[in-house]
Amino acid sequence: MKRSDAVIFILGERRNQLPGERGAAYAPANIALCKYWGKRDAELNLPVTSSLSISLGALGAHTDICPAENDEFILNEKEMSADHPATVRLFDFIDLFRDPDGPRFKVVSKSTIPVGAGLASSASGFAACVLALDDLYGWGLQPHECSILARLGSGSASRSVYSGFVKWNAGEQPDGMDSYAEPLPGTWSDFCVGMVVLSDTPKKVGSREGMIRTVTTSTLYDAWPAQVEKDMQEIEEGIQKKDVAQVGIAAERNALAMHATMMAATPPLLYWKPATVEVLHRVWALRRDGVNVYLTMDAGPNVKLLFLKDEEDLIRSGFPQIKIVHPF
Ligand code: PMV
Repeated sequence: MKRSDAVIFILGERRNQLPGERGAAYAPANIALCKYWGKRDAELNLPVTSSLSISLGALGAHTDICPAENDEFILNEKEMSADHPATVRLFDFIDLFRDPDGPRFKVVSKSTIPVGAGLASSASGFAACVLALDDLYGWGLQPHECSILARLGSGSASRSVYSGFVKWNAGEQPDGMDSYAEPLPGTWSDFCVGMVVLSDTPKKVGSREGMIRTVTTSTLYDAWPAQVEKDMQEIEEGIQKKDVAQVGIAAERNALAMHATMMAATPPLLYWKPATVEVLHRVWALRRDGVNVYLTMDAGPNVKLLFLKDEEDLIRSGFPQIKIVHPF
């Protein structure tokens, strides 16, 4: 199935509705505790496994869309050129939803997170775009429909339509209509995510290419689905029990296992910098000193820490440059 067919399937008759004057929405970024790495369908961004994330509250994308004479993309108050990869990717996505003979759009987006820093800026960007289009056209989409449509922009965007802990069920159907995210019940007011940003330059190998390379060449990838199943169960149970050690140990193991699958690819894929390894050792040293702190990493050199509020002061003194988020 093509992305455009999936959009037609979801919107149905609503595809004929005309856009209103303005649509606006916000979507948070998210950090996976149990990672999505590998697609079973690259066109529809259907994952090999389920994944689970925490949304980052006020860190995300505010997007405003209004009909205009020409397509225009303004990101963080900067006019983006028409041939910039982010502009091309955005309007390719928007084209799935609009009448080719209808108006063009001016899209104004403000990201409160560093763009391209491996901090899931594309996830919040695509989720906010779908929610803003829903507002512009007045489609009245259900949350799971928004999640499916956001997934067509970037897989992890399926999780950014919700706040709190979110699980994206891999699904089994070839059309992906059972592959969407859902929020997990409950809140955890003490839960913190700390971002140790070591580099804000865009990565050389994007997640799409990285996943394809890993799935097709890494012998360690065969072990990945079973790893996810085990980690997912422990993370979900740990969230229910509000047991930060259970969540943290499984999330850390999951992230390191994901990176191990990448390193075993041909050619090898290593997103870490020397400073990344230094941060890992600092986290493990703190843990040896009795601090309940755990780490996770995505397709980039930055490290994210997981801990509870009562450890905040200790963490800040260990990582002076850290940005701490309270998701609840
Ligand atoms: O959604 P994408 O294509 O940006 O891939 C996200 C991949 C990871 O961030 C590494 C893992 C995840 O589940 O978010």
